[in-house]
Amino acid sequence: MTGSRKYFETVAPKCDALRRGFFSETVREKAFEAAGAVTGKIAADIGAGSGFVTEGLLRRGLRVIAVDRSEAMLEEMRRKFGAGGAVEYRLGEAESLPLADGSVDYAFANMVLHHVESPPVAIREMARIVKPGGRLVITDLDRHDFDFLRMEHCDRWMGFDRPDVARWLAEAGLTEVSIDCVGENCCASSQSGCGEAAVSIFVASGMKS
Ligand SMILES: C[S@@+](CC[C@H](N)C(=O)[O-])C[C@H]1O[C@@H](n2cnc3c(N)ncnc32)[C@H](O)[C@@H]1O
Repeated sequence: MTGSRKYFETVAPKCDALRRGFFSETVREKAFEAAGAVTGKIAADIGAGSGFVTEGLLRRGLRVIAVDRSEAMLEEMRRKFGAGGAVEYRLGEAESLPLADGSVDYAFANMVLHHVESPPVAIREMARIVKPGGRLVITDLDRHDFDFLRMEHCDRWMGFDRPDVARWLAEAGLTEVSIDCVGENCCASSQSGCGEAAVSIFVASGMKS
């Protein structure tokens, strides 16, 4: 098991508490706003973790297909949201999603892109599973130089330059591409005394035509 996989298998039970220290519910609200998410639709939550985005979608009356590569994270979600309800759980990779073409109205990925091996491939996959007229929304970190996030949280990418993300969305065939500030930082303290990180968060979206 790679460092990143092992990390998420281990942190799954305390993921909610960690998240509360990193950023607030505003992040998912901005994502839902960017998608224009409405009741009765179906959304994919990619790299769903312990269900931060899924929980917000359920509150809004959507059905959710939650995908994560970590069985421990999916188990955590099952414990919270139960089985046989509005959430379907799928073990899978962001870069080869276990969903059919055009099968969801929205695809969300919050704080996942900086963990995947190939961000453009993950974006292409998310674009593939969205129905025509549907939207893909990514919330993630702007470029930063807090190296301890890589060491202590197994981040693969040190955030992103927004023009790169915009280009990947356009290359995935999406239109109406836009990137804005969420308006808050992701904050983390190093456990080995390497300082405090405060990294701005962007919300990127595009429509499948
Ligand atoms: C930082 S957590 C974010 C969880 C959740 N989206 C949230 O907002 O709280 C990243 C999640 O992405 C998952 N993940 C990382 N790389 C992945 C990949 N290549 N495919 C699928 N899931 C992945 C991890 O297992 C973890 O649950």
